[in-house]
Amino acid sequence: MHDVLPEDSPHWQYLEARVRDVLARYGYAEVRMPVVEFTELFKRSIGEVTDIVEKEMYTFEDRNGDSLTLRPEGTAGCVRMAMEHGLLHNQTQRLWYQGPMFRHERPQKGRYRQFQQIGVETFGLAGPDIDAELILLSARLWRELGIEGLELQLNSLGTPEERLAYREQLVAYFSAHQDRLDEDSRRRLHSNPLRILDTKNPAMAELVAAAPTLSDYLGEASRAHFEQLCAILRAAEVDYVVNPRLVRGLDYYSLTVFEWVTDQLGAQGTVCAGGRYDGLVAQLGGRATPAVGFAMGVERLLAVMEAQGGLPPHTRADAYLVLMGEQARQAGLVLAERLRDALPGLRLLTHCGGGGFKAQFKRADRSGARVALVLGEDELAQGRISIKPLREERPQETIAIDDLATHLAGYMDIRETAQ
Ligand code: HAM
Repeated sequence: MHDVLPEDSPHWQYLEARVRDVLARYGYAEVRMPVVEFTELFKRSIGEVTDIVEKEMYTFEDRNGDSLTLRPEGTAGCVRMAMEHGLLHNQTQRLWYQGPMFRHERPQKGRYRQFQQIGVETFGLAGPDIDAELILLSARLWRELGIEGLELQLNSLGTPEERLAYREQLVAYFSAHQDRLDEDSRRRLHSNPLRILDTKNPAMAELVAAAPTLSDYLGEASRAHFEQLCAILRAAEVDYVVNPRLVRGLDYYSLTVFEWVTDQLGAQGTVCAGGRYDGLVAQLGGRATPAVGFAMGVERLLAVMEAQGGLPPHTRADAYLVLMGEQARQAGLVLAERLRDALPGLRLLTHCGGGGFKAQFKRADRSGARVALVLGEDELAQGRISIKPLREERPQETIAIDDLATHLAGYMDIRETAQ
């Protein structure tokens, strides 16, 4: 679990602001769910025989003896919320959320026990058009964040019936090769055989490669759904690869599944993933409602942006007010307030705590400010203030305090409010 330190938080804010903006432009509404839910909700939605539910949940009993779990993902809670508040009655929804998720995984680069997701969920829309919209939306996010080189992988998991027929074939195939299965796969053979396809064990690569593929078991309608999605993506010039081994680690999916993958982060290369989960609302006791969504991992996106040099430079202040002497110290805080009134676009750091000229300038420099504003006893007596550029070859100037706001507005190219 990580702390976000002062030098990193501007990057988080930058990413969050861009995502928020793009989602608003597609008409998605933000929702905020609690970070804990009843354990049962995750068992029933993510699936009992998944890594998340079997090994990774932070589960505890509260004082009432209820079993609660820190959410390992956002979809289950979002569906619970939508059902509980009647958001699914004869209406469609386009929603998004962000927040921390918790999984007790083995930590490594790009994999944490508390991580941040931004998730998008839609309800009541059954066609491939909304699947495509979600993918186009995510592709726009990468463009606007300047992220390059992500690969879009697509697959169709078909309907539950189609998957069942496929599952039987898969169990027969793997049973015939029991001796080549590793321990994890042997355990999954009858509980969740599709997950065997997702194994990272190189010793099983050959066996998995020769296994029957789900696409051969898809019916007419599932095939058409997938083909229409692909056609929209081609028309929109979004590149994709069909990955028949893409099965996802959560059980609620049907039809479309997709992942955006990078090769720049080592093993944890999936920065965004999702798909359709048409059966989940009914499975949790609601009226059957088609649904599709995705979630992106914020730490992973930031890591890709960092690797690609795409994090914008950031400074904390535009101007640093140096205050020499007791009287200036008092007058300075009042002056700073007046400046903030006049120039809402200005980020002004006021020196607090006294100290000598050199020490104050050192802090001014460290703040990243473009200019130091220097107010000493002499300046104060004359109603003037000095402006000393810290980053540019420009002469120092001393001007009337009354002209400071206008002068800075010109210097920094920021707008002054009407006085
Ligand atoms: P997921 O694939 O489990 O899907 O997670 C989505 C994304 O969260 C991953 O692609 C990854 O970027 C990030 N992520 C997952 N685990 C970690 C971790 N331990 N550390 C850092 N980042 C991580 C879901 O959670 C689904 N709820 C997505 C979805 C929404 N499907 C439909 N709607």
